[in-house]
Amino acid sequence: MPATAPDRNLAMELARVTEAAAMLAARWMGRGDKNAADQAAVDAMRYVLGTIQMDGVVVIGEGEKDEAPMLYVGEQVGNADYPKVDIAVDPIDGTRLTSLGMPNAISVVALAERGALFASPDIMYMEKIAVGPDAVDAIDLRDDVETNLVRVAKAKKKSVNDLTVVVLDRPRHEELVREIRAAGARIKMLIDGDVAGALMTTMPDTGIDVLMGIGGAPEAVITACALKCAGGEIQTRLWPRNDQERQVVIEQGIDTSRVLACSDLVRGEEAFFSATGITDGELVRGVHFHGGSATTETLVMRYRSGTIRRIQATHRFDKLRGISRFSYE
Ligand code: FBP
Repeated sequence: MPATAPDRNLAMELARVTEAAAMLAARWMGRGDKNAADQAAVDAMRYVLGTIQMDGVVVIGEGEKDEAPMLYVGEQVGNADYPKVDIAVDPIDGTRLTSLGMPNAISVVALAERGALFASPDIMYMEKIAVGPDAVDAIDLRDDVETNLVRVAKAKKKSVNDLTVVVLDRPRHEELVREIRAAGARIKMLIDGDVAGALMTTMPDTGIDVLMGIGGAPEAVITACALKCAGGEIQTRLWPRNDQERQVVIEQGIDTSRVLACSDLVRGEEAFFSATGITDGELVRGVHFHGGSATTETLVMRYRSGTIRRIQATHRFDKLRGISRFSYE
């Protein structure tokens, strides 16, 4: 293992980061202001990340320095010079879901060894296919939809019409949706939030078998971190959406036919992931306020140990008042 590899379960500490972000964001649930929700989550996340003993650099963040005052790509976070880590943040995956009070908004942080996370080269979207541990060898993005679904069904000892595929509800997916239906599988449309969607494939209780479709490239890297920890797989391909991005492809000599799997998006022997529910969903419960306290549910994972924890926490506002920089009330 490289000398810089983290030697403690940083995911346990990341749980506090996503809990704080989710609690502040949850106050904006249903208020129709996704920017305010996002800002609240960013503030909390940045502050708590700053208390962790690590030398972190944000690789997937809120944007470039000039457009994002906090958690911008390249920002240093943490309060020590060891371990050196890459950080990917999504303070809210599902800002719209939060602002509308809809299911499956989560707050997410992923962390890996320095230099281990794929930094997406100014291309916003990726094609994705993701599955849980029981179907990792069944997917290949180069094959057609039906071939993939037949193999996934076989690996899961089901028939194709038993499968449920999650797909972001977007016009760009019209053809994909047609192909999934023609193959005989069922579809669950996601309004937003393909990190949660992909993670659902690793949890049999959710009833979700596969995620397919085009979504955010930063979210793909975060998802890869989660699936690496959970033993699932995601395969991706950069998907330039306009001439400007096609120009980037040409200038940077990017091979858009290259399939990038979990191990390409998150290299190395360590990966940590934490996600706290903002709104209730299949993956985790959202934040519930109880007058004087809040409860949260967080999924905490580490690749090296393979441990997956679900942390249900109660946060007492009377106690936090004295020690926290933020008011969750
Ligand atoms: P935000 O919460 O940051 O808006 O992202 C939500 C999301 O649905 C992601 O989960 C997904 O990868 C991406 O947006 C899809 O992008 P688009 O909404 O442009 O199709």
